[in-house]
Amino acid sequence: MKHTKNRLLRHFLLILCLGCVFSCKTTDEPITGLITEHAMVVSAHPLASEVGKQILQNGGNAVDAAIAVHMALAVVYPEAGNIGGGGFFVIRQNDGSNYSLDFRERGPLLAHRDMYLDEDGEVIDRKSIKGHLAAGVPGAVDGMVKAYERFGSLSWEMLIQPAVELAEKGFVLTQGEADKFNRTADNFREYSTVNPLHFTGKDWKENDTLVQTQLANTLKLIRDQGRDGFYKGQTATYIVEEMQRGEGIISYEDLEKYESTWREPLTGTYKEYKVITMGPPSSGGIIILQMLGIMEDREVSNVGDSYADYIHLKTEMERRIYADRATYMADADFYPVPVNELLDKNYLSQRFQTFNPNRATPSDEVGAGKILSMSEETTHFSIIDPEGNAVACTTTLNGGMGSSVVVDGAGFILNNEMDDFSIKPGHPNMFGVLGGEANQIEPGKRMLSSMTPTILEKDGQLFMVVGTPGGSTIPTSVFQAIVNVVEFGMGMQQAVNEPRLHSQWQPEVISYEKGGLDEQIKSLLEEKGHHFNERSGIGRVDAILVLPDGRLEAGADPRGMDEAFGF
Ligand code: GLY
Repeated sequence: MKHTKNRLLRHFLLILCLGCVFSCKTTDEPITGLITEHAMVVSAHPLASEVGKQILQNGGNAVDAAIAVHMALAVVYPEAGNIGGGGFFVIRQNDGSNYSLDFRERGPLLAHRDMYLDEDGEVIDRKSIKGHLAAGVPGAVDGMVKAYERFGSLSWEMLIQPAVELAEKGFVLTQGEADKFNRTADNFREYSTVNPLHFTGKDWKENDTLVQTQLANTLKLIRDQGRDGFYKGQTATYIVEEMQRGEGIISYEDLEKYESTWREPLTGTYKEYKVITMGPPSSGGIIILQMLGIMEDREVSNVGDSYADYIHLKTEMERRIYADRATYMADADFYPVPVNELLDKNYLSQRFQTFNPNRATPSDEVGAGKILSMSEETTHFSIIDPEGNAVACTTTLNGGMGSSVVVDGAGFILNNEMDDFSIKPGHPNMFGVLGGEANQIEPGKRMLSSMTPTILEKDGQLFMVVGTPGGSTIPTSVFQAIVNVVEFGMGMQQAVNEPRLHSQWQPEVISYEKGGLDEQIKSLLEEKGHHFNERSGIGRVDAILVLPDGRLEAGADPRGMDEAFGF
């Protein structure tokens, strides 16, 4: 069932947003997302959500649908959907058991701490962001295979075939998608060793069909051979040959040795809610649990001047917690991340002792980070199946279109995840976040992430599935979606639509969405000493809320083409 009326409403809201009148912090009419009885898929692309819904209607479970949606996004949403990148699954089965799967990329075996520095120790511009050296060893295909081996119920072929067909037969582009391919064509020409004509070969227009024949062939190898269809044989050869032509370092050994890993999910409580989220190598779960932990004992409100107090509190939490991120967070297989200490209630209250309700705390002890205008493309999808099993998946190439390297012959885009390492202590990555030695580059290590796929329980029952793209803004966007529902009483769609704000210690600013912050609230915050930075949309949250009567409400972010399908 497609909720056309709601879709129109959301698109109307998006137009309002683009028209700079998105000042609807509190809208008069509650906005409701698609509501279904049994199952829901919310993703960044309608075709991927449709694939997920069909898998569920054919009797597949939430993990089956997640695998099929992940693969479909690799075709229809190539700026972030991927087989050349990596991500995380957080899974909650209907018996309450929960799991997290880490299929984050890893540093190649030839990677080393100073690989992006020149002989004077200075960072070489763009080297960790574009081209072959920017790519970590992809984890997505191994992750899908691992998830399937544990939870899959339909045949593997059934899960991969929809993506094969979308790549082989093609799909029709919207004007926005056509513009995106035209905008990124020069990067593909510059950084791929063989011009990927399926992306760059024409000036794209609305209603053109994008066919990806090489990618279809790679997906067929994955469909027929599973893991070996990517990490061995023809695809591995294409990847290594691409590396050799482009002076990259991913080797046959890297591909052979790559393994995704089941990890204990990070869990915590907030009032009557249990939060199930992603631990290291993501910082995201720690960040939202720290924020919720500090906020738990405080009254917050989104009404009138109190909204300014809430934003002040939120910003001051973010300032301190992102400083923790820079120092303590990394791949826990390589660095002893003090997770329990960071989440300890005493630590958090001590950390917040310097909070002044009337003044912003300056955070200029460390050189300011700088947010670059690189797009923060990652993608998130949320799924609940008719049995009540749930998957939150966030997956990424890092920047939009990753490294801009398309593997010739295999037709997929390689990530630029190496930039999520701290390439030099104190040097900001493309999201402006700083890192230290904990997150320095090491062979086989996973670069620190902010991705925060999260599932909430209320009184022991499934309550919400949530996540978003957005680089360093991911944890704070997930935090706001949760708080909008559990503290401010919004439904899922309204919680997703609300304007977002973000800050992260350095640079010392509150970023807000264009048209998304009332001038009076801004003045109140300026009086407390806060600085501001206006920017386009922050995050694209795709989430599902279980309503009190057991039905499901989707929140599909109107900032993108995101769409919910269910039944
Ligand atoms: N590449 C974005 C993240 O993992 O946080």
